[in-house]
Amino acid sequence: MADITQVNDQISIEREGDVALVCINFPPVNATGIGVRQGLCDAIAQLNSEGSAKAIGIYAAGRTFVAGADITEFGKPPLSPSLPDTLNVIEASDIPVICVLHGTTLGGGLELALSAHARIALEGTRIGLPEVLLGLLPGAGGTQRLPRLAGMPFTLDIALSGRQVGAKEALEKGAIDRIASGDPREVALAAAQEVIAGTLPTRRTRDLDAELDQAAIDGTRAMLKKKQAHLVSPHLIVDAVEQSTGDLDAGLKFERDSFMACINTPQRAGLIHAFFGERAVSNIPEAKGPTREIAKIGVIGGGTMGSGIATSCLIAGYAVRLIEVAQDGLDRGMATITKNLEGAVSRGKMSAEARDAALARLQPSLGLDELADVDLVIEAVFEKMEVKKDIFGKLDTICKKGAILASNTSYLDVNEIADCTSRPGDVIGLHFFSPAHVMRLLEIVQGAKTDADVLASGFALAKKLKKVGVLAQVCDGFIGNRILAHYSKTASYLVLDGASPQDVDNALEGFGFAMGPHKVGDLAGLDIGWMTRKRKADTRDPNERYAGDVADKICEEGWFGRKTGRGYYVYDAGAPVPNEAIAGFIDAVRAEKGITPKAFTNEDIVDRYMTAMIVEATRVVEDGTAKRPVDVDMVFLFGYGFPRFRGGPLHYADTIGASELVSRIEAYAKEDPNYWQVPDLLRKMAADGTSFADLNKEA
Ligand code: 3HC
Repeated sequence: MADITQVNDQISIEREGDVALVCINFPPVNATGIGVRQGLCDAIAQLNSEGSAKAIGIYAAGRTFVAGADITEFGKPPLSPSLPDTLNVIEASDIPVICVLHGTTLGGGLELALSAHARIALEGTRIGLPEVLLGLLPGAGGTQRLPRLAGMPFTLDIALSGRQVGAKEALEKGAIDRIASGDPREVALAAAQEVIAGTLPTRRTRDLDAELDQAAIDGTRAMLKKKQAHLVSPHLIVDAVEQSTGDLDAGLKFERDSFMACINTPQRAGLIHAFFGERAVSNIPEAKGPTREIAKIGVIGGGTMGSGIATSCLIAGYAVRLIEVAQDGLDRGMATITKNLEGAVSRGKMSAEARDAALARLQPSLGLDELADVDLVIEAVFEKMEVKKDIFGKLDTICKKGAILASNTSYLDVNEIADCTSRPGDVIGLHFFSPAHVMRLLEIVQGAKTDADVLASGFALAKKLKKVGVLAQVCDGFIGNRILAHYSKTASYLVLDGASPQDVDNALEGFGFAMGPHKVGDLAGLDIGWMTRKRKADTRDPNERYAGDVADKICEEGWFGRKTGRGYYVYDAGAPVPNEAIAGFIDAVRAEKGITPKAFTNEDIVDRYMTAMIVEATRVVEDGTAKRPVDVDMVFLFGYGFPRFRGGPLHYADTIGASELVSRIEAYAKEDPNYWQVPDLLRKMAADGTSFADLNKEA
């Protein structure tokens, strides 16, 4: 019988001769919640007071060693012992302690290992300090102990990028002492026996000196000032790492104080909302349950979208049949896919062998008849209902029974498409975002008759493609494009009423968008919106204020943005500069419409733009197009470049509050009552004093 004592329900001690094995068992990822911290302190204290063990091996049960502090505890009152105190207890142990790492040893998990007297990683282990991705800095010695073992440049690299590092690199840099293979318990036992035999050296990390690398510190500070001035935690990481050359306890105090300061920032709240939101979108009944087997996928259309979708499916390991109507289109599609895969190789995302294997799984074909053997078809031809109906009618006769028939339409009625087949239960919308092999959002559009296993298969596909699948119901534009269609008008109204396109872009870039809406328009091509406006001219609401006057004038000049070298900006060699001709167009439209320009501050611009986004996002939740506010948030984070640290439009809305939003909308409505209307749901939330976070909890 093994000699095992349960310290608590998460920590146990097993005695095997002179060795004590401490096992952490707190599924799913052994996070250092209060039970783990208390149990570790108690185990180390107990073993030191007994004094009979000569070495202690800490390892973890399950799929990974400790993956970090328990994120669910953040924002709640702190519980003692803290993680830094726990790790000081481990480091101070008179009995040498080794840690055996496996899986993803991240954040507080790596910091736990750094406080031990030696570290062994199993093959395949990945280590990292991802706190920065949560708006934090390592808060339990990562910025102080890692530089002592692996130097400042490596610490700055992993703490600022949040990237995961393989065991080999970790060993080369000195973050671990050895790589081993086998079972964590067996390796821990053997290593502890080696410690006793003197063949595995141990030392306290605090007894080592960190070497100051002023060039690395200064270079990183300059980079952050340029690229991440708006974020709090990266700057504090550099400050903390710089302190690691001094007394460890002083450095730990600085690190802890900075950590606690970050815990209290809206950026931390936004980033943690994003972390849990990414997981919450598929934590719904519709995403669970039986799925259909998908091995071979047919993609119809070799344009940018179809080729991107095919690339994404190939990277995920599927066999893909690419369909085009003519040979030149097929050749172009094949060339685009090959180029996309080359890009993945050159960015280090896939090996040359994996690329060759992916290309071997790709079959080009002319005509739909070749789709008889595929498990899933994704149609990605241009947005015309007649064309889609024709294709789906044919697929109905060609595809095998049980095949899933998906449309990548970005706004058309999936029910109308489904109804032209004899099997509407097999039909679904899978709306990818361009470039489809890069962008992580996948809107999974549920038709009125979509079968449950088809819907669940959409989520399974998203997971395999490493995308964030979000459930959407049928409406014009689904979740994202419907909201975009509404708020993008605000940018145009701001320009008509007094701001310049650059004022609008600068204000929104200051808010955190990588590019303002006019730069995005130039990049996407101004002709796309122009064509849509012309197509919809006859059906436009006569009460709606027209937003396209200036953009129309630009397009009439043949200026479609980047691809023609001119749009809102001029794209010659070097950085884009504002297109001076635009001011003349704006003046002409204002004169024509009798508009007296007003002054808008950056704050005015952000408030109007964000309020418009929140208004339509609220309606999308209100009418059930999105299941919950968090679904809208994830659509914007993963498909529309919304600044992650703001958590998404409706998380951001909660930082303003429903009452304030209602007052704002009512004030704007004095100028344009048709555009600015308070959604009923928002009015109710203001009256009840509730938030979008409450709605997330209820759903
Ligand atoms: N705390 C609490 N719960 C966590 C967690 C954590 N640190 N990490 C993961 N979980 C939960 C997830 O929410 C999920 O819960 P669910 O099943 O209820 O949705 C479950 O564990 C499994 O997670 P994933 O679905 O993400 O599983 P994967 O296998 O895809 O990924 C992982 C595993 C790589 C560990 C990934 O979960 C991850 O990156 N976790 C976060 C790691 C991290 O950021 N650690 C640092 C925390 S901050 C810190 O340590 C501060 C310290 O310096 C003081």
